Amino acid sequence: MEFSASRQTLLCSSPVGVLDSGLGGISVLKALRAKLAFEDFVYCADCGNAPWGDKTQAFVLERCRAICGFLISMRVKMIVLACNTATALAADALRNEFALPIVGIEPAVKPASVHSRSHAIGVLATNGTIQSSRYRHLLERFGHNVRIISTGAPGLMECVEKGDFTGPQTRALAQKYLAPMQKAGIDKLVLGCTHYPFLSEVLRDILGPEVELIEPGPAVANVAHARLVNINALRMHNNSPKEKFFIKKAEEHTDVLLRLWPQAASIDELAA
Ligand code: DGL
Repeated sequence: MEFSASRQTLLCSSPVGVLDSGLGGISVLKALRAKLAFEDFVYCADCGNAPWGDKTQAFVLERCRAICGFLISMRVKMIVLACNTATALAADALRNEFALPIVGIEPAVKPASVHSRSHAIGVLATNGTIQSSRYRHLLERFGHNVRIISTGAPGLMECVEKGDFTGPQTRALAQKYLAPMQKAGIDKLVLGCTHYPFLSEVLRDILGPEVELIEPGPAVANVAHARLVNINALRMHNNSPKEKFFIKKAEEHTDVLLRLWPQAASIDELAA
């Protein structure tokens, strides 16, 4: 009895692991922090190997496997894949291999389709996500009665990684990807890559106020919260909730990381 009580304490006070190919998953970390006020987080970014969106499934799975192994060595109680590409290409295999809960993230096609009044929505994501069988199934399930313009957007995540959130190159690239969607009369744009919320200003500027941008973070944070409650591992007290960052090629990416998460106090090289 005593043993299980102390095990439970250990599980509650363990951190939550979060991973992405790069810094985009920080958009999810913000939502997680807002929803899970007392948790500690360990965030891993594979910046030195990014982007993942144009890599093979085997490569993405191998990187996710290595990073999950590292997070487990940090004794995390749950892993959030703050990356649509990783979820599309690796989530099923990771869930088979690892015993802890793994929360994934999918483009929000369902809510966008249900609430679209123009019956046309856009989905901006990586090629890896758009071409995946998981995405195809998502469209089969929820893509009825609505026209969906799905666009793989190589280059956009790199704009975020280098800290170019609003510059002319970023704007030109976004304009190119959004033009067919504007022509189709979309009223919702699903941000199907966790990097894209950092480009919201430019995307909003191009599309105008009548198109709603649907960000992935809050829905994932709700799922993560429910999952922790479900396994009895939600942390209820913590005097100093922390985030630790492990970044592949940390030195090159610290400046942008600090722009996205100015309060980051612990930044280390990701050895995995
Ligand atoms: N942030 C990622 C996603 O949500 C991956 C971007 C990339 O590495 O290409 O898909």
